[in-house]
Amino acid sequence: MMRCLPFLFVALVGSFTLLNGAPAPALPEELDDAEFYTEDGKNVVTCALCATVVEDVMILLQNGTVTDEQIIDYIIDTCAKLNVFTNPDQVCGGLTAIALPTIRYIFSTGVVIPGNICGMLLQGQECGLSDPEPLEWAIAPSSNPKPPFNEPSQPPPDSPTIKVLHLADIHYDPEYLAGANAMCGDPLCCRATSGEVVNATDAAGYWGDYRTCDMPWYLIEDAVSQMATRHPDVGYIIWTGDLTPHDVWSTAKEENIYIIDRLMTLIAQYFPGVPVYPTLGNHESHPVNTFSPPEITDPELSTSWLYDEADRQWARWLPAEVSSTIRYGGFYTALVQPGLRIVSMNMNYCYTLNYWTYYKSQDPASSLLWLNQILEEAELNGEKVHILSHIPPGNGDCWTIFSREFSKIINRFESTVAAQFYGHTHKDEYKVFYDTVELTRPVNVAFIAPSLTTYSKLNPGYRTYTVDGQRPGSTWSVLDFSTFIMNLTEANQRGSEAAPVWSELYQAKQEYGLTDLTPQSMDMLFQRMLTDDALFQLYFKNHHKKADEVVAEGCTNRCKSNLLCRIVTTDIADQSKCENIRHQLFSHPEF
Ligand SMILES: *[C@@H]1O[C@H](CO)[C@@H](O)[C@H](O)[C@H]1NC(C)=O
Ligand SMILES: *[C@@H]1O[C@H](CO)[C@@H](O)[C@H](O)[C@H]1NC(C)=O
Ligand SMILES: *[C@@H]1O[C@H](CO)[C@@H](O)[C@H](O)[C@H]1NC(C)=O
Repeated sequence: MMRCLPFLFVALVGSFTLLNGAPAPALPEELDDAEFYTEDGKNVVTCALCATVVEDVMILLQNGTVTDEQIIDYIIDTCAKLNVFTNPDQVCGGLTAIALPTIRYIFSTGVVIPGNICGMLLQGQECGLSDPEPLEWAIAPSSNPKPPFNEPSQPPPDSPTIKVLHLADIHYDPEYLAGANAMCGDPLCCRATSGEVVNATDAAGYWGDYRTCDMPWYLIEDAVSQMATRHPDVGYIIWTGDLTPHDVWSTAKEENIYIIDRLMTLIAQYFPGVPVYPTLGNHESHPVNTFSPPEITDPELSTSWLYDEADRQWARWLPAEVSSTIRYGGFYTALVQPGLRIVSMNMNYCYTLNYWTYYKSQDPASSLLWLNQILEEAELNGEKVHILSHIPPGNGDCWTIFSREFSKIINRFESTVAAQFYGHTHKDEYKVFYDTVELTRPVNVAFIAPSLTTYSKLNPGYRTYTVDGQRPGSTWSVLDFSTFIMNLTEANQRGSEAAPVWSELYQAKQEYGLTDLTPQSMDMLFQRMLTDDALFQLYFKNHHKKADEVVAEGCTNRCKSNLLCRIVTTDIADQSKCENIRHQLFSHPEF
């Protein structure tokens, strides 16, 4: 039953326990993933369970005499019976109270098809959609013919390069308190309000904690200060969102704005004159995960407050002309240098934990249509494009049709999109996109950077990339990358008086024996990991930033196939590559 609970609550209050794929506290590590599967590959939450919950909530919402308080009580009561959180009143009650105006509005419009909710929420589990037709949509393909694809040549030696710093998932918790209870049984602990410490081992570490805790300010400042010292050659910074903590039941707009402002000011101070290209994480909104389409103008429901704030904050780095699309839908494009363009997408519009996805799933804010146009223009102008966003498409938490349409665009513009960059999963990983016709030719790579936060069972980390620089015929592709970590076990052993030690965990080319990071090479790495378990184990340890506990647990069977599946899945509805992986792994004697 324990395993069912995260999804049950997603269904109940349309929310969160799977924040960034992080599990409820008692979930075994091998299920620590955005997708939970049983041994036979099925999701552990049954469709029937989800359907029952949705039905109950619909009945309550449709009854004109049922008050908000009654709905909140019902959810607290259900929460308490299921015994998921130590404080169901606060956690479940808080989440519901925050989200109810949005939920009530969305359901009152009659646009949401209740029989589609579980099929969308548990996509990949084949719950079935009662009425799939209204969910279908497609972006009209570019009318310009696709240019022939030419294998980009590697830059000659001593060509100019750019050093790029990638910040992901900082999750600063202003209330982090060293010594507070780290075993509180709520989605976020290590705060003064987290209850009594009953066992000395339950106390939060000084430099952070491997349990469900976010980042103290002094650790973030230490991290950023050492980044500035270690990487004085940073050309620009990409920053893929999730700045606020996991206290999803007690969020507020003012608090989120305070955190965004404090972190943006910090980065600007330590990296004066360095351009920063940000994007919005699902946690920046209030209620969490809630991003309305632009046609919603009611200030109580609209996400404009956040888009306006993002525009104000980002103006210190971005050109003035980005303002209109940021204020419209939280996305923009900007030229980094002649020849290299960044497109920052708001992929919270594909997030299945965003309530508005159930209201409007057909290209909200027309962001994919816009992407298509920007790429057409870039192609005509001979520019290369780096796409960045928070949520990587293709996983179970990004709506399949959005992922499918995105992949088609990547396919069409494979010669223009030089690389993609994401965060959200907190893990150090990557994805390969394949051509949508033959399904075998690798056409693009998404680099997914590890989180700065330790949430959960992770060392703090960040990435740098070396990118092909300004020269005639530059590919602007990623030539290599490095992941840096702080060993939290060691930092906490040394204590508050000693500065933590940050070190380079690995360099991609050297670590994995690659000559370059082209889609072909990253696909070959995947192929090699299928048969070379030692190589895979290296990837697995890096995936979790070598956090001691996870390394000790190891990764076999389902854990291994899940990790490998994630690399090659860019649309959760297409499991063909995953099925091959499972077949290959599970038919081997050692598995
Ligand atoms: C609405 O809820 C009340 C209890 O709060 C119940 O008595 C009533 O029968 C419900 N009405 C409908 C139409 O279900
Ligand atoms: C305290 O924690 C340690 C280590 O997890 C455990 O061995 C011990 O039994 C715990 N003591 C109590 C009283 O729970
Ligand atoms: C982290 O530090 C602990 C304690 O010193 C050590 O046992 C562990 O091997 C270190 N992990 C890494 C990845 O260096």
